[in-house]
Amino acid sequence: MKSVNLSLLILMKQFESYFDLQEINTTRKVNAAVVNISGRQRMLSQRTAFFSLKLVTTSDPAERQVIRETLIKDIALMERSHKGLLYGDSEMNLLTSPSAIVRSMYFREPLNLDKRIREYILAVRTLATTADSDLTSNDPNLNYIITVAPNELLPILDAVVAQYQRESEIEQLDLEQTQIQLYQQACSAAAIAQAQAQQLEQTLEELKHTHSQLFQSEKMASLGQMMASLAHEINNPVNSIFHNLAHVENYSKDLLQLTQLYQDIYSPTDPRIQEYIDSIDLEFLETDFLTVISSLKLGSDRLFQIVRSLRNFSRKDSDQMLKVNLEEGLEGTLLILKNRLQATPSRPPIQVIRDYGKLPSILCYPGQLNQVFMNLISNAIDALDEVGDWTHNNQQSQPLITIKTLANSEQITIMVADNAKGINLTTKNQIFEQFFTTKEIGKGTGLGLYISREIIVSRHCGEIWCESEIGKGTEFWIKLPLNPQCPDFLSNSPISTVK
Ligand SMILES: Nc1ncnc2c1ncn2[C@@H]1O[C@H](COP(=O)(O)OP(=O)(O)OP(=O)(O)O)[C@@H](O)[C@H]1O
Ligand SMILES: [Mg+2]
Repeated sequence: MKSVNLSLLILMKQFESYFDLQEINTTRKVNAAVVNISGRQRMLSQRTAFFSLKLVTTSDPAERQVIRETLIKDIALMERSHKGLLYGDSEMNLLTSPSAIVRSMYFREPLNLDKRIREYILAVRTLATTADSDLTSNDPNLNYIITVAPNELLPILDAVVAQYQRESEIEQLDLEQTQIQLYQQACSAAAIAQAQAQQLEQTLEELKHTHSQLFQSEKMASLGQMMASLAHEINNPVNSIFHNLAHVENYSKDLLQLTQLYQDIYSPTDPRIQEYIDSIDLEFLETDFLTVISSLKLGSDRLFQIVRSLRNFSRKDSDQMLKVNLEEGLEGTLLILKNRLQATPSRPPIQVIRDYGKLPSILCYPGQLNQVFMNLISNAIDALDEVGDWTHNNQQSQPLITIKTLANSEQITIMVADNAKGINLTTKNQIFEQFFTTKEIGKGTGLGLYISREIIVSRHCGEIWCESEIGKGTEFWIKLPLNPQCPDFLSNSPISTVK
């Protein structure tokens, strides 16, 4: 829409600069005036001839007076028109001087119209001012007016009018031709301008696209860095606990056996020893000690897993194609977001339901897929945060995030669902658009789903879509082929920034 308006504006500007409409209209008016007035000269010559004859033949003095005035007026108009046609008269719309051909018709023999008109005007004016008593049918002026003039003047006037008409038509034709040329020029200039505007718009789009990619990668990179340094810091102590616990278990087993041996061989003679055995409840200690150690082992085992997930998540090879099990990525993401799953003043803790099928390892860009999981799970948490009231019919319900995975011989399916308010249809149609967000400024940038779709569809030849029901919640579904064949996947290039 924007581009159409812009092009239209450019087109109008081009037309404005190419066409001087005022000049075109003026030329038309002047041509029409020249043809009209020269035609009228012909009519005036016939009219004055008729009235000249009538002046001589009538005997009524009053009528004669009227005829004289008419003749003087007609002759004055004829004279003014004549001068106007030769030298211009702005009131009569006569602005230009005649062409060389017309001038030669006016001033050169054989036609010499100027001379003949002036002689004719003089003859009519003389006759019109001749005293009543001198007016006779033999008057030489009258003779000239009614005999010579029609034979000489009319054909010359006709020839000049025809020439005027010819020239006007040629000028008109020229004008039209110029207009066509200018129109064509304007059209091609407008087409160029439109192409430039389109190019500009495309560049702008690409810039926006690149910017959004950079923004998201920045976000993920700093998150990755944070995770990497955290994992690095706790890796050594966790390792030491994990590995030393096995020794602790062995040593304690040995020590307990040793106490048992002492007890079997030496019966305590000093009452202080028996007292101490009773006070520490040695029998219970012997059984519980090993239970404590095995629960410590479980805890350290979990810690060891956590550190491994963190390191996996923050791996620097996010743009490398690797064969991985996506469950690890999902778990790593949940671990990072663990803090956000806890209870807040406005909602109970979020329970995560894991419904994992047996997933085969797949060849993918794991860092990028982690980014997608991060976007989907944080959107679900945001949506659950927005619910506000978790009591329904006086019963408290629980915020839930369900993660489901399944696989067949061709593809892997992953679903991330929440039981928040759901998304209405109008919003749902826009959620994958760049910069679309319903979140307040500073909270959402509207890039998460846009980038996620790019990663799944362009980069992994997969599909991503959303199903939602108002009041029930939202599900995001992802399908990834086990054997992706799309160009972006095969090229092993960074996410393309140009569409
Ligand atoms: N699980 C969900 N429940 C309800 N609405 C959702 C859910 N996931 C996404 N949306 C809607 O889709 C919009 C776009 O999501 P997206 O992740 O692209 O951007 P964002 O979360 O607003 O900002 P960003 O992810 O860039 O920080 C959200 O603003 C929200 O309105
Ligand atoms: Mg988001």
